[in-house]
Amino acid sequence: MTEKAAGFDTLCIHAGQEPEPATGAVTIPIFQTSTYVQEAFGKPRNGYEYARTKNPTRLALEQLLAALEGGAAGHAFASGMAAITTMMLALVKAGDHVIVSRDTYGGTYRLFSKTLANFGVLFDYVDMSDFSAVKAAVRPATRMLYAETPTNPTMEIADLSALAAIAREASETGGAKVRLAVDNTFATPFFQNPLALGADVVVHSTTKYLNGHSDSVGGAVVCADAEDGAKIGFVQNSAGGILSPFDSFLVIRGIKTLPVRMRAHDANGRTVATWLAKHPKVPRVIYPGLPDHPGHALAARQMTGFGGMISFDLGSEGAAKRLLDRVRICALAESLGGVESLISHPATMTHASVEPAERQKRGITPGLVRLSVGIEDVADILADLERALQAV
Ligand SMILES: Cc1ncc(COP(=O)(O)O)c(C=O)c1O
Repeated sequence: MTEKAAGFDTLCIHAGQEPEPATGAVTIPIFQTSTYVQEAFGKPRNGYEYARTKNPTRLALEQLLAALEGGAAGHAFASGMAAITTMMLALVKAGDHVIVSRDTYGGTYRLFSKTLANFGVLFDYVDMSDFSAVKAAVRPATRMLYAETPTNPTMEIADLSALAAIAREASETGGAKVRLAVDNTFATPFFQNPLALGADVVVHSTTKYLNGHSDSVGGAVVCADAEDGAKIGFVQNSAGGILSPFDSFLVIRGIKTLPVRMRAHDANGRTVATWLAKHPKVPRVIYPGLPDHPGHALAARQMTGFGGMISFDLGSEGAAKRLLDRVRICALAESLGGVESLISHPATMTHASVEPAERQKRGITPGLVRLSVGIEDVADILADLERALQAV
């Protein structure tokens, strides 16, 4: 198969997944081994020496991820946070300045503000949907723009081509490479291709849509440039936060159905968002697919679908609690992107590690509810929400 000529759905099923040579197994086997016997002194077989460095199941996933994002190299990690940590260790150092989406995932904010800041990396949190605010935040020490789009949980949309242009211009005027790194977890490469829009690096929590079945925690980094890829590979091997063979198998298996799942998430997401927007008990719905979303036109241009993530504000924590205590089909749980609908309260769950004042600034209000719309029958999701909303 010539991977360049293949369509996205075909890549999901075939990229990196040549039949296993010894048996012809159609599915990449789980190579559950920590080491490999060498042919002779100084002669490892096909570069396999030790499984932290290289494992065939993980390698298949890494090649698959690189193909889906259109990058030169992919690397898979034990969690999305391990992926982001490795990417930062590989690409920034003490004294470097990083501009971050102000509404980035709470765990990313915690890593940056409470850990990496202790190693002399400087972070500024900026509204990335505001081009001039990003431009104004660039300093001579800036080495990275770290964008999430749509953001978690307030669904802000950043213009990736415009951010890439800022990074390029800053590289040219400053003389040092300024990279654009994008967390593509919410959109997935099915709906959005940051590298094609000029980004240098993409990160993922594969825990979410890529695996898609809420049964594995993992992460990924894909680099446009082979040299950056080699830097990630070096830190992956040195720091060791690798994805296990079994989890690699699960993510490969999950990705085979990514296109079908994403089409279904998108269809259900649009229906649920439109229904919520008309509901008298729901004062505010935030979904990039709704025409009143400030990033709607940009999202329609930059993404090929709006997906299944919706946030809505019920006005108070009490109202949110009444809803969340009553839903049955929508599972009250952290995480997102599974085939099942998952519903959560960002202020006390996924974003509890963000300080209250900072939360307020980002619009993570006490009444905000985040819904990851699953691929169940949409009528059942609506009936579940309707029943729970009656108590609000
Ligand atoms: C957008 C985004 N990025 C990164 C992460 C971190 O991924 P993980 O939980 O797999 O470490 C999450 C987790 O919720 C997320 O939502």
